[in-house]
Amino acid sequence: MTKIDTGTALVTGADRGLGFGLTQGLLERGWRVFAGQYMPEWPQLEELRAQYPDALQPVPLDVASIASVRAAAQTVGTASERVDLLINNAGVTSRTNRTPISERLDYDEAHRLYNVNALGPLRVVEAFLPLVAESVLKRLCFVSSEAGSINRAERTAWYAYCMSKAALNMGVKIMFNDLRSQGYTFRLYHPGWIRSYMGGTKSDDADLEPEEAATYALPFFLRARADEDRLVLMDYLGREWPF
Ligand SMILES: NC(=O)c1ccc[n+]([C@@H]2O[C@H](COP(=O)([O-])OP(=O)(O)OC[C@H]3O[C@@H](n4cnc5c(N)ncnc54)[C@H](OP(=O)(O)O)[C@@H]3O)[C@@H](O)[C@H]2O)c1
Repeated sequence: MTKIDTGTALVTGADRGLGFGLTQGLLERGWRVFAGQYMPEWPQLEELRAQYPDALQPVPLDVASIASVRAAAQTVGTASERVDLLINNAGVTSRTNRTPISERLDYDEAHRLYNVNALGPLRVVEAFLPLVAESVLKRLCFVSSEAGSINRAERTAWYAYCMSKAALNMGVKIMFNDLRSQGYTFRLYHPGWIRSYMGGTKSDDADLEPEEAATYALPFFLRARADEDRLVLMDYLGREWPF
């Protein structure tokens, strides 16, 4: 079982919400963090950088754009010879989630969600794989959702979000089949219901503050598992979800 206490991480969607909480939590644990910055106008990362000028480096990163993801990998590769922990956190939801099939679905919006939530992590892993290959830990983490579980699906709408997360889960499973034998380790995760910015403004009716959600997530991302050869979708309370 491979265990390391600190190292170098990349977190996508790190400006605010869970990604910011994960970045902060890793810095507190002594990690060096490249923080994917999608919203340069949002001040939190720069404020955190003042606290951790050597350990935190924001990097422009739009997971919907292969050019942006490749440029970010280039920037990180110039500053560091490896990435030990790659956290695919960036995700989007939709204001049109509640539209039922009897009404007109917004297909442009569905494409946007699929592009960010399902294809974004593939772009990121593809571009950063040479840097992760240099690591001993080789850890690839994916923030998915209970919404991606087909087996437990109960919603009667939310097509685009749920389908994008189910597609992410399949993408991670294929990647696991491909890369596990090369020493890569995988974490697929549902972070709980977070008071985040997914609706555009910070929500106040969910269970967890983003920082609190990060304190649940980080041990799962960092801890060794006895059974690395089995891909599991785990939630913040340590419950396994069926695919
Ligand atoms: N919130 C929940 O209850 C919940 C539940 C289950 C799973 N999740 C998952 O948890 C992850 C984090 O969500 P969160 O709740 O922290 O949401 P959040 O507060 O909206 O944070 C996500 C961050 O990612 C950014 N982002 C959006 N599109 C991006 C792109 N193309 N490239 C890079 N970054 C991008 C967002 O920017 P903008 O604000 O400009 O979009 C935002 O800064 C997501 O994958 C989400 O699906 C959340």
